[in-house]
Amino acid sequence: MNLARFPRRRYTPGFTPLEPLPRLSAAIGGAEIWIKRDDLLGLAGGGNKTRKLEFLIADALAKGADTLITVGAPQSNHCRLTLAAAAKEGLDCRLVIEERVAGSFSPDALGNNLLFDLMGAASVRMVKAGADLAEEMAVEAAAVKAAGGHPYIIVGGGSSPLGALGYAACAQEIMAQAFDEGVAFVRIVVASGSAGTHSGLIAGLVALNAGIPVTGINVRRPRAEQEANVLKLAQATADLMGTPQPVAADIVALADWVGPGYSLPTPEMVEAVRLLAAKEGILLDPVYSGKAMAGLIALARQGAFKGERVLFLHTGGSPSLSAFAGVLRDPAFNQ
Ligand SMILES: Cc1ncc(COP(=O)(O)O)c(C=O)c1O
Repeated sequence: MNLARFPRRRYTPGFTPLEPLPRLSAAIGGAEIWIKRDDLLGLAGGGNKTRKLEFLIADALAKGADTLITVGAPQSNHCRLTLAAAAKEGLDCRLVIEERVAGSFSPDALGNNLLFDLMGAASVRMVKAGADLAEEMAVEAAAVKAAGGHPYIIVGGGSSPLGALGYAACAQEIMAQAFDEGVAFVRIVVASGSAGTHSGLIAGLVALNAGIPVTGINVRRPRAEQEANVLKLAQATADLMGTPQPVAADIVALADWVGPGYSLPTPEMVEAVRLLAAKEGILLDPVYSGKAMAGLIALARQGAFKGERVLFLHTGGSPSLSAFAGVLRDPAFNQ
């Protein structure tokens, strides 16, 4: 795996920290939990999209783009970070916001919506759930071209094979750190959404012959559908890198902690967000890392990890917390 062959912008100095979570591990039992702090990646607010954007923005710049176009949910971390990268590179950025949950978009919302405003999105246009997102982004691109500009479209979550290289790079980083610190992980647990993080990680671990299984915790889709998505993208990423193909047996994307649906709260998510904050001083988010950690906690309590050293990949998202204050304080979700 030779990732230096791919043009890359650098948005994070060095590696993100790899830390033990002794107080969380003692509180829940059943596993020695560590965390990879990708919430501390560069660009405004950090989080997993920064690694994908390093490759995607390098490609955009190589192609002479002056305007980035992407899509995400109302509290999209991906849109925030794409906009931050655009600001840093002196590019314009137009966002298509998919209102996946009816009534969930408000231009005045806190969290990431406030940051869209502060970082000066050239356009924030809401479309209803079920809209053809590729078509909506093509409409934006046509408007940019009509005005003499050069658009570059980034798919939702930056989850193309090129974007997923960011998480193949993360696999390499984890292996180097684990060796350096003398800690061998038995498994990695990660949130699985638009699938680029999960897929890139798998492609990287397979390429490195790491022998570390990944437990994906799905935040949106039924298990079989998500596992098919992850496998397809992991294989396409391996093709891009010229490395061995992941197979179906490498992919697990449990759907037991999605709850009623994407971004909708669960008591287990609120417990996870509160536990990490109170025991370790680490902020998760309600849509992705909170649900992924809820899955890890439940599996550890069930004895699924049998004393394993487990690495939780913290994909970020805390800039959205303020938008979910009502839910996080709601007694119905705090049991
Ligand atoms: C904070 C956070 N964690 C996890 C994910 C899921 O990552 P992926 O979309 O690469 O599956 C996202 C995606 O938006 C995210 O914003």
